[in-house]
Formats: sequence, C-alpha cells, structure tokens
Amino acid sequence: MNDGAVGVLTAGGDCPGLNAAIRAVVTRLAAESRTVVGIRAGWAGLMNDDVTAIGRDDVRGILWKGGTILGTSRLDPYVHGDGVISVRETMDRHGIGSLIVIGGDGSLRTASKLASEGIPVVGVPKTIDNDIAGTDVSIGFTTAVQIVVDAIDRLTTTAEAHNRVMVVEVMGRTTGWIAAHAAIAGGAEAVLVPEQPYDLPDLGLAITRRHERFANYSVIVVAEGIDTPVGTTVRKGRDMYGFERLGGVGNFVASAIENLTGFETRVTTLGYLQRGGTPTAFDRVLATRLGVRAAEMAIDGVTRKMVALKGRKIVGTDLKAACANPRSVDPSLLRDVSWFLPLADIES
Ligand code: F6P
Repeated sequence: MNDGAVGVLTAGGDCPGLNAAIRAVVTRLAAESRTVVGIRAGWAGLMNDDVTAIGRDDVRGILWKGGTILGTSRLDPYVHGDGVISVRETMDRHGIGSLIVIGGDGSLRTASKLASEGIPVVGVPKTIDNDIAGTDVSIGFTTAVQIVVDAIDRLTTTAEAHNRVMVVEVMGRTTGWIAAHAAIAGGAEAVLVPEQPYDLPDLGLAITRRHERFANYSVIVVAEGIDTPVGTTVRKGRDMYGFERLGGVGNFVASAIENLTGFETRVTTLGYLQRGGTPTAFDRVLATRLGVRAAEMAIDGVTRKMVALKGRKIVGTDLKAACANPRSVDPSLLRDVSWFLPLADIES
C-alpha cells in the first residue's frame, strides 16, 4: 500500500492515446480519493519542479484527443541532470510517493534506473514504433498503422493514374513494425525494414517484371531506420537531446529504383502525421486498460513493473526486462508479407 500522492508523466515522443492513458490513471486514482500530481514535459517536470495537482475534472473530454495534456520532452535526468537527486527532491516537496511513467523504451529505461535507486515506479508502454519488448502492442501503434494505410490507399490511386512507383517512408527508428503492418494492410508491393537486408537491384528487377506482366504502378514501404550503403548518408544529424534525427531514406530508395527501372518514382515521407490526431478505438481501449491497471498497481505499492498487454489480458511485467532491448519484427510477420511481393508472384 502506498499512501502518498501519485505522480504521472508522459515522456519521449508523443503518440495518439496518451491522453486516454492519463484520463484512466487520474480517474481510477480519484475513485480511491487519491491525490494525483501531473508532471509537466516528461522528466523535465521532476528535474525543474514543474508539477501541478490534477483531478477528475482536469481529464474530462480528453479521451479522443491526440498529444498529451501534460506535455512531453526527451530530457533525461541521468543524461541532462543529476540523476535521482532532483527527481527525489521534487517528489518529496510535493509528497509524491510513486510515479506512473507513460513512456517509450528510453523513458522506461530511465524509470527502471530510478526504481533501482528506490523510487517506486510503474511503467506504461507507449510508442508508435511498437518496439517495447514486454508488451504485445504499445499505445499509439495501431493509430500510426491506420494513418499509413489510409495514405497508401490514396497514394495507390494516384500511382496507378500516373504509372508511377510510390515510395512511402514511415517511422520506425530501429524496427519495422509500422512498415510491415502497413504494407500488409495497404497491399504494398514491397517493404524494407531494419530487421532484414535488402537488395535494390533485385527490387528493381521485381518491379520491372511486375510492370511488364501485371500492373503499371507499385507502392514500396520503407521504414526510416533501414541501413543505407556507406557513402550514401541520409541522416540529418542529432537533435538537442543528442538523438539521431532520421528521415530521408525514402529519397535514397526512390532514386535508386528510378535509376534501376527507368520508371518515374515519387516519395512521400509521412513523418509526424503518424504521431498526431485522434487515437483508434483499439488505442483508446488499450490506453484506458493499461492506465487503470497502472493506477491500481501504484495504489498497491507495486514498483519495478510495467503494465502490458499479453494476449487479451493486462498484466504486470518486469520493467527492466521489458525495455532492455528493442523488440524486432517477428520473422513470421515478414514471411507472411513476402508472399505478396512481386518476386514471389513472378517465381510462383
Ligand atoms: O520513437 C518514436 C519516433 O516516432 C521514431 O519513429 C522517430 O524516429 C522519432 O520518434 C522522431 O521523434 P522526434 O523527432 O520527435 O525526436
């Protein structure tokens, strides 16, 4: 049992469903008459004492809204601050006995470090990238996939009208979850993901054969994090927190395809569209269930756990293990996609 106030924060890149999770946490805690403290701008709020009491009335009407009413940042107390010290000071000053951290793998690793230094923490997994190992799905993923699929549907009709190859660049820093799911659901002709080596001449040949035999257009989905050959750097340097900025790899793939095939090729980089706007019904349900369970764990004084979806159940899983390494796309998913690629069609 933990009697202090419960602090809640959102850290790292935003995603649809964060507000649904905040609403669930606050509502469940309010039902037990527990004080909740909203921490602004992720870890920055604890490092700089930027916190405020938050109650049931503050979270009405936010279920469907994108972004996060608490704000977020990539500031990390262990990288940009004095580690546990100012975090603990802020918590003591406001009587915060435990933290609910709604974050991606980086923020959850920070949460796990703080937990090992004695701060009671429960993690809630969110990221459109879906690469947190301890859960089947993270908040934001299904919304991002739906946004990409809607875009592919639109790009397909214009590709067909103009006899073009369309390259669609999607997010996915180290994994190709969005790319693989969107390629299946959007019926794309090929998908390039960080987990799998790719061969551009083979892809060019496959596209050429497809255009000779079946169609006059192709849609190729590319995850932003794929490797590119040495000397073809498409990276954009680092952001203010030291993270590598991705984006632009689609241009590299598109110009290679155009050179190899002679087909007019265009690129669409979906970028931050994938992170904004209203969450899908699935994300609203997931965020609500994870938020409720996280609140209950905080009430029970549980720490070093992350709430997770396993099958149909919400469970508590070991926080440190859950975010130790990114979860790669399941090879069976990539095998399922491969049956619909042009090379498979041509060889069968
Ligand atoms: O971590 C999620 C993610 O959407 C990545 O796919 C992407 O590379 C990154 O965030 C970009 O975020 P920002 O530019 O906000 O740091």
